[in-house]
Amino acid sequence: MKPFVKMPFPGPKARALFERDQKVSSTSNTRGYPILADHGQGVFVWDVDGNCFLDLMAGIAVNTTGYAHPRIVEAVKQQTEKLVHLCYAIFPQEPQIRLAERLNEKLGGGYRVFFGNSGTEGMEAVMKLVRYHSKRPYSIAFTGGFHGRSSFGLSLTASNAKYKKGFGPLIAGVTHIPFPNPYRPIFGATAETVGDAVLDYLEHLFKTILPPEEVGAVYIEPIQGEGGYIVPPKGFLPALRKLTEKHGILLVADEVQTGVGRTGKFFAMEHEGVKPDVVVLAKGLASGFPISAVLFKEELSTWEPGSHGTTFGGNTVAAAAAHATLDLLEEGVMQNAADIGSYFIERLKQLQKRFPRIGEVRGRGLMVGLEAVKDPITKEEDPALRDALVKRCYQKGLMVLGAGTSAMRLAPPLIISKEEADLAIELVGEALADVLEQPKAQS
Ligand SMILES: Cc1ncc(COP(=O)(O)O)c(C=O)c1O
Repeated sequence: MKPFVKMPFPGPKARALFERDQKVSSTSNTRGYPILADHGQGVFVWDVDGNCFLDLMAGIAVNTTGYAHPRIVEAVKQQTEKLVHLCYAIFPQEPQIRLAERLNEKLGGGYRVFFGNSGTEGMEAVMKLVRYHSKRPYSIAFTGGFHGRSSFGLSLTASNAKYKKGFGPLIAGVTHIPFPNPYRPIFGATAETVGDAVLDYLEHLFKTILPPEEVGAVYIEPIQGEGGYIVPPKGFLPALRKLTEKHGILLVADEVQTGVGRTGKFFAMEHEGVKPDVVVLAKGLASGFPISAVLFKEELSTWEPGSHGTTFGGNTVAAAAAHATLDLLEEGVMQNAADIGSYFIERLKQLQKRFPRIGEVRGRGLMVGLEAVKDPITKEEDPALRDALVKRCYQKGLMVLGAGTSAMRLAPPLIISKEEADLAIELVGEALADVLEQPKAQS
């Protein structure tokens, strides 16, 4: 099976629907990609004009098991016929109880779970939990981080000033520090030492402007997602864990994008052996059904019944889809993410040798970023090249996404096969050749 795109693209049905959409959809929706999807199967998506795409973005790292996986369809069908909703926050049901137990086991036990509908809701719940429990008003987050767009999530989010424009003032008390990016180390450090330099800076802040005993939590994505798929230097996360413990500060891992097997382990924090106080999961947990899970250490659960709640959070059908997703991950899909992910990164690194304007190939598992630069020596970002590459990928039948200022992110469904990965790499190579070697020949 191969993707195919008829030119001109987007086709007539898609263009007509885009026009109608433009008249009725909120102007806050971004419309930077030419896909108007009709249906999906496996790792392929068909648009309304019959064009077929190989999906390398999985609905922004959500569709863990691809499209229309028979096990997900069956689980959802059975649960829908049985019971759709009863408000888990008030009426416990077996699928959610079992899901909380399974997620707790993945952390080795000792955690409780709060279910919501989205990553943003998860982060909002964490803020309330941390404030309620610690009574500490301040928070630390990282520039380049993305944690959602509610009042608190947006206060933490620092991947694009546009997200905050017009909405301030937000929740006070958040201090942002730089995320250690080994490709562009700051503070005069190297790729290896930039993590230590950032932690030295944090200790400096603790001495000068931010009393550590008033900081409730540090919020971090183990690999920055929206910020550009940036992996921190080895040893940074354990050192951060140590520093937070030293000051009695909670460590919150926002694994909304990195979690649920995407990096080849269930939690990305596992790659560095770090156990956070709180972990937030969402996106990939139920293969496209909306659910989030906040896992927090037992001793943090000092809030009272009614301190927090939700009508839809932990919906019963979404919980059934989450079970089917976890079953598939345990039966080999997570191992596939690890194996195909390593292969994918290796093959892309080979491509990079031919195209040095891809300054860096980085990532873990099936969370892979390509950084477009004007010059591999200066490493100057090249958003125009990234945008041209993304556009060409769509014309070649690949669904991809931008991230950060000049990165292209690849986050396919975790069921992608080696043959499909080979095909994807071949097409990315052709797209790179088109934009870098024959830019004028493109339509
Ligand atoms: C790391 C991270 N946290 C939080 C969120 C917010 O999740 P949602 O869009 O489901 O509210 C996202 C979404 O992209 C994310 O990537």
